[in-house]
Amino acid sequence: MLERKILVTSALPYANGPIHLGHLVEYIQTDIWVRFQKQRGHCCYYVCADDTHGTPIMLRADKEGITPEALIARIAAEHQADFADFSVAFDHYHSTHSPENQTLAAMIYQRLRDAGHISTKTITQAFDPVKSMFLPDRFIKGECPKCGAQEQYGDGCEVCGATYSPTDLKNPVSALSGEKPIAKESVHYFFELAHFKDMLADWTQAGHLQSEVANKLTEWLDGGLQPWDISRDAPYFGFEIPDAPGKYFYVWLDAPIGYMASFKHLCDKQGLNFEQFWQENSTTELYHFIGKDIIYFHALFWPAMLTGANLRKPSAIFAHGFLTVNGEKMSKSRGTFITARTYLEHLNPEYLRYYFAAKLSSGVDDLDLNFDDFCQRVNSDLVGKVVNIASRCSGFINKRFVGRLADSLAEPELYAEFIQASQRIAEYYEAREYGKAMREIMALADKANQYIDEKKPWLLAKQEQAETELHGVASMGIQLFRLLVAYLKPVLPVLTQQAEQFLSTNLAWPTDAMQPLLSHTLNEFKPLMTRVDADKIDAIIAASKDNLEKTVAVAKPKQFEAIADTVDISDFAKLDLRIAKIIQAEAVEGSDKLLKLTVDIGDETRTIFSGIKTAYAPEQLQGKLTLVIANLAPRKMRFGMSEGMVLAAGPGDKQIWLLSPDDGAVPGLRVS
Ligand code: MSP
Ligand code: ZN
Repeated sequence: MLERKILVTSALPYANGPIHLGHLVEYIQTDIWVRFQKQRGHCCYYVCADDTHGTPIMLRADKEGITPEALIARIAAEHQADFADFSVAFDHYHSTHSPENQTLAAMIYQRLRDAGHISTKTITQAFDPVKSMFLPDRFIKGECPKCGAQEQYGDGCEVCGATYSPTDLKNPVSALSGEKPIAKESVHYFFELAHFKDMLADWTQAGHLQSEVANKLTEWLDGGLQPWDISRDAPYFGFEIPDAPGKYFYVWLDAPIGYMASFKHLCDKQGLNFEQFWQENSTTELYHFIGKDIIYFHALFWPAMLTGANLRKPSAIFAHGFLTVNGEKMSKSRGTFITARTYLEHLNPEYLRYYFAAKLSSGVDDLDLNFDDFCQRVNSDLVGKVVNIASRCSGFINKRFVGRLADSLAEPELYAEFIQASQRIAEYYEAREYGKAMREIMALADKANQYIDEKKPWLLAKQEQAETELHGVASMGIQLFRLLVAYLKPVLPVLTQQAEQFLSTNLAWPTDAMQPLLSHTLNEFKPLMTRVDADKIDAIIAASKDNLEKTVAVAKPKQFEAIADTVDISDFAKLDLRIAKIIQAEAVEGSDKLLKLTVDIGDETRTIFSGIKTAYAPEQLQGKLTLVIANLAPRKMRFGMSEGMVLAAGPGDKQIWLLSPDDGAVPGLRVS
């Protein structure tokens, strides 16, 4: 087998949110493929990075009161911890906000510009006069021009599904300041995609793409290629365009260059030849694993950019479908928007690696994580079939034969059959038909278990004269187990490592040359994997709903939109907070919520209407002490003037807590 030189990437996750199970479809899919190539002896590098630029990241940092650099550093650490715990083993994980990326982005831009592929044009865009910035479509809200739904974003209506441009919105406001955006002109830089029309028409049909993707591309190409706007105005978190002060590269310009930047860093660290992988006509292989939502960027813009900059194009782009959970789009309210971390807090990551492998194919169909199916497959395949073989056989070997395997194979044909499957299973892995590979491996596992069931070593163990046969059968089971785990190694790195420890051997990819482990001494057997505890799944869903409640509690409901993120102590000092004694409480005719309170605040009595009727009967309140804001401007309500506000805590309804009577507190006491 000729050694291949392969560079593999997964899409760069945005640095403004956590890794979730949807992302993991891709990183696990890629990691399996890379581990497979490495196990087969190829030279294969797997690089990735955080995608750190753009408006959402800038605004989120702003909101948290930190710099974008601090935000992306924190997220980078979280992302990498998540990946490591799922055994997603990058050779290098980088950041698009890196010197390598800045240099490469500038180099590619300059090459494109010098070759005449960059143009400029003045365009008019929505501008927030308060924030002094141009507004991306997602940051403009207004009424849908079609159905009139309120609070719709500039890129489309979530109610009726209409798509439109932000200038079509009725009564548009900036989602950042609430102010009406103004139209403002600015010069933008464009990449002339149409210059590459012929190249793209050939390349997209030349076997670099899955057939369904290639078909989609034909449609796009027939639709015509528009110039691509690659610049954004300051303020923007990104790289300034070298010859255009105040203009920044749009995040999607430098994001794919981040693949190169990450690899460049690896090359510098390990003394590898970067040019060899990226020069035009490179004989190395380059593969990008991506989700189907970002095909346009990878199959049109990216090959065009590379061509225009005299660099190599990808050998292939492997797109996958989206993850649904229990048949539906991941949903925060259903608790199925599950982060990598929440999963890890409850379940073994290898369960999910196996489940995704069992469900993955080479196509772009969506795949469903169904939790009943998940439990069933993991329990029956991994625990019931694979691990079971070792636990059934190892006891005999260790107790009866001092941990030593027999010196000959009891069933050479069966062993040969397992070896012969190697080619087929390898082809499935290579073609990303992991589901087929898993079925093939489990069919072998069934054969191994049938063999043991037929030979009944537990009965042989009771017959004195069957000692040799028992040794042969139990050893045979272990030989087959070894081959099964070798085939599963790309999917289950942790289980494999434990099995390697037990078998006292390294599990290479099985080939014709692979000899059985004869007269070989095993280490002590430790349980390799336990069954899925279904309660843990409920716990994951509950915890994912909790995450939601946390974010909902932080998000401001509409009536509190005036709340500032922070107030000065001087703002707080303006409040006259006082202990008040409730002298009288009475129901308000016509209101389900309000009670009319007469309170003594020390130097005077006040009338306050308070929405606490669901929690207190008027007679419960008389004589109690509570906390009021005494200097709230009087408000005219439907039932009369309210001269202050009672403070209480609790979620509402029956649970609203006022202060209880307290001997030490007197009406009028100021609270600080
Ligand atoms: N930052 C861009 C990619 C730039 S690549 C030069 C991006 N980031 S992302 O965080 O939104 O997504 C990262 C990858 O995860 C993408 O390939 C995306 O398709 C994939 N997935 C995100 N959600 C997914 C599911 N629910 N299911 C499967 N894959 C998903 O896009
Ligand atoms: Zn609408």
